[in-house]
Amino acid sequence: MEQNRLQNLKNQAILNIFEAKTEQELEELRVEYLGRQGELSQLIKKISLLPVEKRKQIGELINETKKIIQEAISSQKKSLQHQLSPQEDWFDITVPGERPPQGHLHLITLAISEITGIFEKIGFGKVAYPEVEWDWYAFEGLNMPQNHPARDEWETFFIKDLFSPQYGQAVLTPHTSSGQLREMERLGQPPIRMLNIAKCYRRQIDASHAPMFYQFEGLVVEPGINITHLKGTLDYFVKQYFGPQREVRIRPFHFQFTEPSFEVDVTCIVCGGRGCRVCKQGWMELGGAGMVHPAVLKNGGLDPQKHTGFAFGWGVERVLMMKYKIDDIRLLFGSDLKFLEQF
Ligand code: DAH
Repeated sequence: MEQNRLQNLKNQAILNIFEAKTEQELEELRVEYLGRQGELSQLIKKISLLPVEKRKQIGELINETKKIIQEAISSQKKSLQHQLSPQEDWFDITVPGERPPQGHLHLITLAISEITGIFEKIGFGKVAYPEVEWDWYAFEGLNMPQNHPARDEWETFFIKDLFSPQYGQAVLTPHTSSGQLREMERLGQPPIRMLNIAKCYRRQIDASHAPMFYQFEGLVVEPGINITHLKGTLDYFVKQYFGPQREVRIRPFHFQFTEPSFEVDVTCIVCGGRGCRVCKQGWMELGGAGMVHPAVLKNGGLDPQKHTGFAFGWGVERVLMMKYKIDDIRLLFGSDLKFLEQF
């Protein structure tokens, strides 16, 4: 059925495109067929409803249709431009066709959708909480009172003259953990399975730190949640994202907002866990995790006597760099086509 729909869509699109008389008309057709609300996008959204064995086939057909429509649009655009300047109006069918350069989504965008897809399969809903945040959500409510030394880790940008008597100073959000409190407030009660992916900011810059970066934060609060669920979830993610050979371990650590807290390691992508100069005895650090601290549950409006939950927070660029063995985060923000075209 989808095949027919795609075939009709393609035929009709091509007819309309080659009949377009102005660039404005072409642009309208582009939005109609390829835009976010367009038919193709609607179909893409529905792919996950199809039986697994059909998804690949339909996905490929959709991509092919999209490509054909894009090519028709740029070819019609060219011919309209030539019509506008008659002196250039020539057509030599022996000249080999010109392929317009075609870009693709940026690596980080691709990583975000891949990570989202992995967690959506196990019931996590994606949210994006504010990039400009109040002190309460970024620190105080996460069990880091004013002047607590733990705050130093977050090398925060403060926003001058923006202060709320209730929530404190405004900051550029230094981590996605603030989303934990916001999600608890939003839902008011379990079950909670949140994936918060948002931009974060810290005063830092070197090969592995950028002043703006993305984190993804998971939060699960449901009856009977314990560490085995956390470990199982991390293991699931790592195997899906890095491949089935990867192992995960959790190591005791300290965060103010989880108790107990862990750092999470994955077996090294370079040496496969034997030990090399890139890793620490076969392990690479991925990020933090832990069981949500009772004070955080309370601050989010939940009863810590009744509820337990786990949380984890990792850098999007960090997992991406580990997957492709990229050794400098700045490459991801540099817009160097030689680098980007490798992916
Ligand atoms: N927010 C922490 C950071 O930016 C990472 C983190 C640690 C998130 C432990 C968590 C957690 O949810 O449980 O360094």
